[in-house]
Amino acid sequence: MSQEFDVVVIGGGPAGYVAAIRAAQLGLKTACCEYNAYADPKGEPRLGGTCLNVGCIPSKALLHSSELYHQAEHSFIMHGIKMEGVSIDVPSMVRRKDNIVNQLTQGIKGLFKKYKVTFLPGLGSFVAQADGKWQVKVGEEVVTTTHVIIATGSRARHLPGIKVDQKLIVDNEGALSTTEVPKRLGVIGAGVIGLEMSSVWKRLGSQVTILEAAPDFLAAADTAVTKEAWKIFTKKQGLDIQLGIQIKDVKVGENTVVIQYENDDGDQTLEVDKLIVAVGRVPNTDGLNAEVVGLQLDDRGRIKVDAHCATNLPNVWAVGDVVPGPMLAHKGMEEGVMVAECIVGQAGHVNYDAIPWVIYTQPEVAWVGKTEQQLKAENIPFKQGQIPFQANGRALGQGDTTGFVKVLAHSETDQILGVHIIGASASELIAEAVVAMEFGGAAEDLARIAHAHPTLSEVMHEAALAVDKRSLHF
Ligand code: FAD
Ligand code: NAI
Repeated sequence: MSQEFDVVVIGGGPAGYVAAIRAAQLGLKTACCEYNAYADPKGEPRLGGTCLNVGCIPSKALLHSSELYHQAEHSFIMHGIKMEGVSIDVPSMVRRKDNIVNQLTQGIKGLFKKYKVTFLPGLGSFVAQADGKWQVKVGEEVVTTTHVIIATGSRARHLPGIKVDQKLIVDNEGALSTTEVPKRLGVIGAGVIGLEMSSVWKRLGSQVTILEAAPDFLAAADTAVTKEAWKIFTKKQGLDIQLGIQIKDVKVGENTVVIQYENDDGDQTLEVDKLIVAVGRVPNTDGLNAEVVGLQLDDRGRIKVDAHCATNLPNVWAVGDVVPGPMLAHKGMEEGVMVAECIVGQAGHVNYDAIPWVIYTQPEVAWVGKTEQQLKAENIPFKQGQIPFQANGRALGQGDTTGFVKVLAHSETDQILGVHIIGASASELIAEAVVAMEFGGAAEDLARIAHAHPTLSEVMHEAALAVDKRSLHF
């Protein structure tokens, strides 16, 4: 007799494993299947999806290591610390990253045991619906379940004619496992992955050229932030970022890649020792047998869902990168929790207006809510306060005064509409803005909260005060 569950989650990434844990916490008999796209050397299934295996976690580990190396080489001296003969052992750096990945992916298995989630290794696909239940095939076994949560995530988009071999031409997977510093690194796409990976390899000594098709740099961010980021990344850090280009041809030699492209000045050629392709991601729906059960997809191949992540099929839900919305781990996790709570009749909810974005470059870029250009386009009246880290004692002490905090609030109600940060620890500072926005807070609320002194968070405080033109330290 086939195993029977209340919930089967297909996909063990952050959206899936969190959905499974929450469902089990709520008393549902839950299983999660994972077909092991990121197999470990022993061929054992690994949970954690893109995020833990080849995304958020490994990229941040390498970003941190490379930043420490860069500081040792360039910044320690301003504190009077003299370093001689600083060198980088890239294989050790990559091994450390791999150990973190192993620890965390094993940790999810431990969490499954703790919360009594059954782990089913294998590819999950729909078989049929019968008597109000779904049959799902996992590997060679067919299980029966009342609810299915699809959390199959996404994979790197590749470009026609550019074969990713994960050696000379890599996507995020190869970029995170490279053990030699390429002398000349090419990157297609100046998006989040392009900028984070370029930062790592630039700090380690690569000469980096980024080729971006869009005419604008980081169009989703506030223009004040993008202007500052552009200045820092290109002029100060030396990233060669070319906008509005069109790739014509990519040829692979023995140890080099030659890219023909066109920009405003005509045809160009770039020869590099490694090429990273980072041009967005595509949803994973191929293995699901979606067409057999009539699961509806949108024109970009994502699963169509309503505001509670319910699909067009009864008791079938979809969460994370495989559905529309920002492809962010925390967004997927919140959706996973929402769906599990909706299944047991609770009021599961995700506030999509308060999902923070972070780019883990140095300085970090973080924002939540609307940008100034969006407010203008939507004719929403606003006021703003912007304060540089230069005016902050802690930032001066740390020797890192780049950037600013900008708070946008409704000119009549004072409600916070967006907060944009470029600077040290922006990824941590943005949390305060998210809390404020989640609770419908006003700039005045942030302005009246005591912020510990001396901390970088005082810049947020001052920016909120500046909305009402009453900053105290600037
Ligand atoms: P995934 O993590 O893609 O997991 C889906 C899982 O489902 C995979 O393990 C896959 O093997 C499995 N699967 C697919 N089909 C089947 C099937 N039919 N049966 C069984 N299993 C299946 N986001 C952030 O918020 N912060 C970051 O700093 C960040 N950094 C990133 C850095 C990089 C380099 C990349 C590539 C992404 C980054 N992201 C980041 C995005 C983040 O990784 C994704 O948003 C997140 O992993 C999506 O979670 P998910 O569970 O929806 O999908
Ligand atoms: P992206 O969407 O951020 O950027 C892709 C870039 O490639 C865009 O600027 C696009 O204009 C450009 N592009 C597309 N086709 C091109 C072409 N043919 N030639 C040149 N440029 C081209 O996608 P990216 O960087 O691949 O990251 C995927 C997703 O992963 C992100 O959108 C984000 O959701 C997630 N992610 C999140 C991170 C974070 O939260 N810090 C870090 C890394 C990834």
